[in-house]
Amino acid sequence: MATRISCSVWFVNPWHAMTSKPSISKSRLQFRHTLFSSSSSSASSTHRAMCCTGSSNGASGTDTPFILTTPLYYVNAPPHMGSAYTTIAADAIARFQRLLGKKVIFITGTDEHGEKIATAASACGSSPSEHCDVISQAYKALWKDLDIAYDKFIRTTDAKHEAIVKQFYSRVLENGDIYRADYEGLYCVNCEEYKDEKDLLDNNCCPMHLKPCVPRKEDNYFFALSKYQKFLEETLEQNPEFIQPPFRLNEVQSWIRSGLKDFSISRASVDWGIPVPNDKKQTIYVWFDALLGYISALSGENEQPDLQNTVSLGWPASLHLIGKDILRFHAVYWPAMLMSAGLSLPKKVFGHGFLTKDGMKMGKSLGNTLEPNDLVHRFGSDAVRYFFVREVEFGSDGDYSEDRFISTVNAHLANTIGNLLNRTLGLLRKNCKSTLVVDSAFAAEGNAFKDTVEMLVEKARIHYENLSLSTACEAVLEIGNSGNSYIDERAPWSLFKQGGAVSEAAAKDLVIVLEAMRIIAVALSPVTPRLCLRIYEQLGYSADQFNATTWSDTRWGGLKGGLVMAKPKPIFARIENKIEENASAKVGAGSGAT
Ligand code: MSP
Repeated sequence: MATRISCSVWFVNPWHAMTSKPSISKSRLQFRHTLFSSSSSSASSTHRAMCCTGSSNGASGTDTPFILTTPLYYVNAPPHMGSAYTTIAADAIARFQRLLGKKVIFITGTDEHGEKIATAASACGSSPSEHCDVISQAYKALWKDLDIAYDKFIRTTDAKHEAIVKQFYSRVLENGDIYRADYEGLYCVNCEEYKDEKDLLDNNCCPMHLKPCVPRKEDNYFFALSKYQKFLEETLEQNPEFIQPPFRLNEVQSWIRSGLKDFSISRASVDWGIPVPNDKKQTIYVWFDALLGYISALSGENEQPDLQNTVSLGWPASLHLIGKDILRFHAVYWPAMLMSAGLSLPKKVFGHGFLTKDGMKMGKSLGNTLEPNDLVHRFGSDAVRYFFVREVEFGSDGDYSEDRFISTVNAHLANTIGNLLNRTLGLLRKNCKSTLVVDSAFAAEGNAFKDTVEMLVEKARIHYENLSLSTACEAVLEIGNSGNSYIDERAPWSLFKQGGAVSEAAAKDLVIVLEAMRIIAVALSPVTPRLCLRIYEQLGYSADQFNATTWSDTRWGGLKGGLVMAKPKPIFARIENKIEENASAKVGAGSGAT
């Protein structure tokens, strides 16, 4: 056994560990009474209610926001493509939910405490707080470049976060779930986690980071996770959709079945952290601290941070998006911590796969990362967002290759979508003075292509709802493919030449294809917002009109007769062209050209 806990020596009465009794509001005590009612069946039904409705002590009713979170990223190093991946997916989901008319609170942020961060700071010759400022700013800058429209950015060094962590810790302590014990084991600093020897490779190497775990011995405060074993088993049995994709549920259930061990939630050897209330010699374990960022992020900027008030601002989260490596923290530790504090469980935890390079997880510790800033500056944010959402099935691993990146975005965004718009607008300009001859609803009466578009856009909606983001993109792209086939079959360029009624039919065909383009622009906007704005503008709308669109605008019939379209201009330059353009621009700049 790699780890040993000797509780008998150090076990303390949690009330005695505190110098003064924290004050507890009446409502909270009543709630706790309900949560831990004596019979296990009523306890489990309470948990069921906590899981499904999320309204036992959080937001309820029709105004319930859709709270979506990314992990809070470690600031030991600047972001890489793996960290950007979760955030891009989260942003697409947030934008889709906004299109549905939901009030969305999209939370992201940085995880700034702990040994790993302190070591990284000292390696750069900075103080931990200076280091955190720099790296957390790098995350914000990347999110800006990637068009990530988050609502809250929480840093675990924010004062409001620290206050909420302490209040939460005190609640768990009051509930009798924290005790002190001796601990000895093998620690992976990169995971910030004690490991079981049986899970390690030769030389006690962590299988994720391929670095040896270090022996540690200290006296810590422990969270009584084992007490929640049965509650967790029942919660998952009754709410299997809590963990997504469904194939990850088995993994979590088998961890729980194999027996939950209490875990250490403080560190005596780490200074860079939030002090344990009433024991300044210890700091709170970085995971116990960071998970609470999902709640503290909800707290207003100028409010006195208060756990109960903050929770009433919308908790529980609708969806935690995470990578599969941190599933145990989110699907086991976090729900147990929340149960202990009498708070509702998040509604869903989705563990996505890894971006890999040569089959190995891309990561800061292995040093095999892909630079997202470089990709964005070379190819633009839409291309980067589109490629990773479309090409990596959400939930599974996906390997990156530049060739595949270029061929995918060229084929889908430049050809299927860009060319279709461009050639249709070109024909409209040449033959109809860029003006739509009739309403799209009228033009498409009895038209089979319209039925296809309606079927595909509904398919996209369902896939977005189910977080099958790649398949949602595929359905939207299929509209583009069908539009290309439609225009090829109808060949309006030759119909126009015939004149008369045939030419009128050709003008209607253009309206039909442009209406399909308008629908594509709304339906793909969660993934490629800039590109979709450009489509909308070419269709004669303003940016404000685009920003006001909702999913109901994917209904057929938005374009009206008499609307004047813009002059066609490529909305997505093929990547080789861009590189060539850049190269010739450089030559041009060198020769004094503008
Ligand atoms: N700080 C913790 C999370 C605390 S949440 C309360 C942490 N940070 S991390 O920066 O190491 O990782 C953040 C997220 O990035 C994780 O979900 C992780 O899975 C994800 N990724 C890191 N590398 C990745 C890939 N190569 N591919 C996909 N996602 C990856 O864990």
